[in-house]
Amino acid sequence: MLDLDELFEAAQTAAAGAYAPYSRFRVGAALLAGDGNIYRGCNVENRSYGLTICAERNAAAQAVAAGQRRFMALAIAALDSDAPVGPCGACRQVLSEFMGSDAPVYFGGAGPERVRTSLGELLPWDSLHDLGKR
Ligand code: THU
Repeated sequence: MLDLDELFEAAQTAAAGAYAPYSRFRVGAALLAGDGNIYRGCNVENRSYGLTICAERNAAAQAVAAGQRRFMALAIAALDSDAPVGPCGACRQVLSEFMGSDAPVYFGGAGPERVRTSLGELLPWDSLHDLGKR
């Protein structure tokens, strides 16, 4: 059973491990994979700022390294933002490799507001999922 609030709690736990000394902006991501397990990631920054890895791509790498090739849902927790923070464009693209358009994406900040959307809404007209349907 998919419980997005439980997935969000896993993302909050993951965010506590963030290495973010430059931005002081801790983010955690939790992916529910096809095996039913949750894979977590946090952002890992670098003094060469552009080398920073977002929480979402870190979680994707953890899942893929564990043998997973299908992601069913994603939750993102931004501990240092009041408002919800959605995945960046690069992460949307990377997630789309393993995640269908209808897969739920659920995100929030430190406040009570949550956004529930889907990968297809975040990345429309994707070459892998959408263009073949025309
Ligand atoms: N960050 C993420 O990890 N995921 C997001 O969805 C938004 C941004 C990270 C990158 C950087 O370490 C910090 O947040 C500030 O942008």
